[in-house]
Amino acid sequence: MILVTGGAGYIGSHTVKALLLEGRDVVVFDSLELGHRDAVLGGELVEGNLLDKDAVDAVFNKYSIDAVVHFAAYASVGDSMVSPDKYFTNNIEGGLNLVNAMREHGVGRIIFSSSAATYGEPMGVPIDESHPQNPTNPYGETKLMFEKILKWYDVAYGIKSVSLRYFNAAGADPEGKIGEDHTPEGHLIPIILQTLLGQRENVKVFGCDWDTPDGTCVRDYIHVTDLADAHLRALAALERGAETGAYNLGNGDGQSVKQMIDAAEEVTGKKVPWMAAPRRPGDPAKLVASSKKLKNELGWQPKYPDVRTIIEHAWRWHSTHPQGYAG
Ligand code: UFG
Repeated sequence: MILVTGGAGYIGSHTVKALLLEGRDVVVFDSLELGHRDAVLGGELVEGNLLDKDAVDAVFNKYSIDAVVHFAAYASVGDSMVSPDKYFTNNIEGGLNLVNAMREHGVGRIIFSSSAATYGEPMGVPIDESHPQNPTNPYGETKLMFEKILKWYDVAYGIKSVSLRYFNAAGADPEGKIGEDHTPEGHLIPIILQTLLGQRENVKVFGCDWDTPDGTCVRDYIHVTDLADAHLRALAALERGAETGAYNLGNGDGQSVKQMIDAAEEVTGKKVPWMAAPRRPGDPAKLVASSKKLKNELGWQPKYPDVRTIIEHAWRWHSTHPQGYAG
């Protein structure tokens, strides 16, 4: 049985679907504070919070857990600048409850949702795994701290882990059953698509004076289904006896905010109203992954590297679920 914390969230739910398709038994542990019951397409769902040690222990007592895929965390950069307490408590204390339960119950494998935010302002792109990690916000700091916790839990207790450092997760399940639903929404693609659905007046482009080809920020957008696939590969690697490690998860291809707006217009056939807005604090100009290590060591290849496909799948989801899981 695979325990998936945060399996009712955006990336978690797509990974649960992929695990089920592979024939794995899955138990999702999710507080449903930010996750959605309907996002869990199968397996068991246990409603609970990682801060509740007894609830965590109960899951390990009830199910025979072979490995853990750990998504549950707060993940908003801006919010973490305002309320770091929430982030350190939830992401670190909650995470510690999880790995301590793994120790007590003899579970020795974990895949961890880390982030490109652990690198902070990059010295250059593409970023590979040996790039120094200097987070510029509490969210990234919690992800880096937990990577370090996992490193030492391997040294002392033999728990093997793979930390996957996501770049910009995007898109939705190609079959259209699950997708992205955050409240409040802060990510670029849903904001563009919600604008096209008439839910927002326009897209505010955060800075048109960056040191990039068209002046807008460059990011590496990766399809959530390709992200999910990397989790399955990382899990299989640990099962084959791989050592603890970390991988970047991106396509290695940078797209600017303006290019994303153009691509959305191409995919939907609609004009995206947008306006220039001030830079958003904490945004690096460019974040692009080197995904060589993931490709070489885990044989990962993105199935949907084209941002137009990513936007097409996201549009399928948003246009059929304009209120997300509530509608
Ligand atoms: N952007 C806009 N207008 C908007 C929203 C976003 O111009 O209304 C721009 C941002 O400035 C950025 C790009 O679009 O340049 C992408 O922004 P997102 O908010 O979609 O994503 P981020 O790159 O800020 O964040 C992502 C993950 C975080 C992670 C971060 C760094 O969502 O969890 O990458 O790794 F921390």
